[in-house]
Amino acid sequence: MVTSRMAQLADLDIETPAYVYDELFMEEDITAARKVLEPTGARLLLAMKAFSFEAGLRHVAPLLDGLHASSVFEARLARRVLETGVVHTTTPGLRDADVAELARLSDRISFNSLGHVRRHLPAVTGLTSPGIRVNPGLSFVPDERYDPAARNSKLGVPVNDLATAITRTPAAVEGIEGILVHDNSESTRFADLLEVVEVLIDRLDPLLRQVRWVNLGGGYLFSEAHDNELLERAVHVLQDGYGAEVLFEPGLSLVNRAGAVVTTVVDVFRSGGKDVAVLDTSVAHVPEVFEYRWAPRAVREYGCHRYVLAGGSCLAGDLFGEHCFEVPLDVGTRLVLGEVGAYSLVKASWFNGIALPTVYARAPGGELTLQRRFTFDDFLTLNRGLPA
Ligand SMILES: Cc1ncc(COP(=O)(O)O)c(C=O)c1O
Repeated sequence: MVTSRMAQLADLDIETPAYVYDELFMEEDITAARKVLEPTGARLLLAMKAFSFEAGLRHVAPLLDGLHASSVFEARLARRVLETGVVHTTTPGLRDADVAELARLSDRISFNSLGHVRRHLPAVTGLTSPGIRVNPGLSFVPDERYDPAARNSKLGVPVNDLATAITRTPAAVEGIEGILVHDNSESTRFADLLEVVEVLIDRLDPLLRQVRWVNLGGGYLFSEAHDNELLERAVHVLQDGYGAEVLFEPGLSLVNRAGAVVTTVVDVFRSGGKDVAVLDTSVAHVPEVFEYRWAPRAVREYGCHRYVLAGGSCLAGDLFGEHCFEVPLDVGTRLVLGEVGAYSLVKASWFNGIALPTVYARAPGGELTLQRRFTFDDFLTLNRGLPA
């Protein structure tokens, strides 16, 4: 739900476009996830791919058991912000050149393929705890682009292939100490998770007996599920049956509600029989709006004045959907696009030379602190070659 706390952002003295992350909402959503996990004893990491602004990570790090990284840079950042807690890393794009550094930075690395295991296990042994990402082959997500178990998925070793490989050559997984599965997106059904765990038990019992930890990934909205007893069953069967330490590494569920884009209307006109309001932000600041064709919620969105909200770039499809407002929009009107904390700033680009949004932190007491203003120098740094 878009809250009045977020609506206040439209009235505050703030440079736009702005990306505001609300420390209170992050604290609340992490605490809520911890509460859901409490009866299970499972550990909670945050997936940095959803949110990696350093000051925000520092703020929430004490509430977490660690961070999940997908690259060397994320792993370096994780190490900078964590005083305690573990770094878990996985990527299908593991480069030979990065293996040694990732092994030093990460407490645990999940290899994405048996080829990874063959090529890199010897080099990481002793530096990190090696695991393997398994694709359980269960598709819960209708949109293939979000479905980690889609046909021909690149994400993890297909569970049946792994089971066959282990039966034929048990040495194929010698030295593997953990399993990662991440097989869902925005799910509110822990029934899905239990199904995943049942597949692991059915197909990979010998490997489960060997490993020390099982990371069950992200993809669940912890505060919105109603079948928590199935979550508890899924975790307990791994802990009690196999003595495994169990972890989760959600992203969206922990940071999405906390992030808003505050924007100003820069033009209003009619086009094709509809009122269009052009904004000083763009889908380049919230790329998933364009990639996945969803409309972010605009705060104070009720009433009968209907507008197409359009981003300010040249892209025809730079649109935020149609929204109805209580009052007519005018040049200078402030709007707040709510619940865009995850996968926005991390994916934002400089398309059209429009500066990235100014970043503010909002403290639990409500005060805003300017964290970062992007300037022409930043744009130049990105676009300038090496000195001759
Ligand atoms: C391996 C892994 N872990 C965790 C996550 C976080 O997922 P979410 O933000 O849906 O919770 C992802 C998302 O792509 C992922 O690939």
